[in-house]
Amino acid sequence: MADSVETKVRDHFDDDASRFDAIYQEEKGLAARFIDNYWRGVVQKRLEINVERLRPFEGKKILDVGCGSGRFCIAFAREGAKKVVGVDFAPAMIDIAKKLAKAHGVASRCEFRVGAFPDAIASEEGPFDAATANGFFDYIEEPVPIIAAMRELTRGKLIMSFPKAIEWRVPVRRLRFWLKGTPLFLYHEDQVRDILKAAGVSDPEFIHLDRDYLVVADV
Ligand SMILES: C[S@@+](CC[C@H](N)C(=O)[O-])C[C@H]1O[C@@H](n2cnc3c(N)ncnc32)[C@H](O)[C@@H]1O
Repeated sequence: MADSVETKVRDHFDDDASRFDAIYQEEKGLAARFIDNYWRGVVQKRLEINVERLRPFEGKKILDVGCGSGRFCIAFAREGAKKVVGVDFAPAMIDIAKKLAKAHGVASRCEFRVGAFPDAIASEEGPFDAATANGFFDYIEEPVPIIAAMRELTRGKLIMSFPKAIEWRVPVRRLRFWLKGTPLFLYHEDQVRDILKAAGVSDPEFIHLDRDYLVVADV
């Protein structure tokens, strides 16, 4: 994967795993809390909406693509999901996810896998009742085949976020990622609609969050 988008993104999140997960931690200093609420409040908001939209969880099997430190998987399992599979190609993220699932008493219903989606999930592992991908398409060069794979693996709901191309935080975000050499992909609403159509997802619902379009679709 030398020098590919995937390598750069994986290395970025492997190095950044603890700092990323700190967004979800409640115990932090005032400055960090202010920055996380103001700058990255969307992260927590996405989680709340995913949980609201996927209830009731009882009996459900859910796939979380680009699961990071596992916060969504753990929330789904705590809500009562029968099984949650989280896949992420950054090993440091998966290490944190496994530890957190244990700490929250849901390790037996969470399976965390190091690997690149879609290759890491075989079609026989489906169908899932829902598949989610939050804060993920920001780092994906070709979203259509990924969404098509999520759709094929699912009989139920898809929830996916796409970062807005026009938003006041964008110039600073672009600069931060450029300085780190990490690829970043941003979207206009029309572009997201075209991508979803090409991936075979019809009638998507768009929820406008400050930084993201959150898309919910039945498949
Ligand atoms: C910003 S994090 C979001 C984590 C989690 N969804 C959340 O919202 O808390 C994005 C994650 O996607 C992972 N990722 C990006 N492209 C991937 C791919 N093709 N396969 C697996 N994981 C990927 C990265 O390693 C990173 O952990």
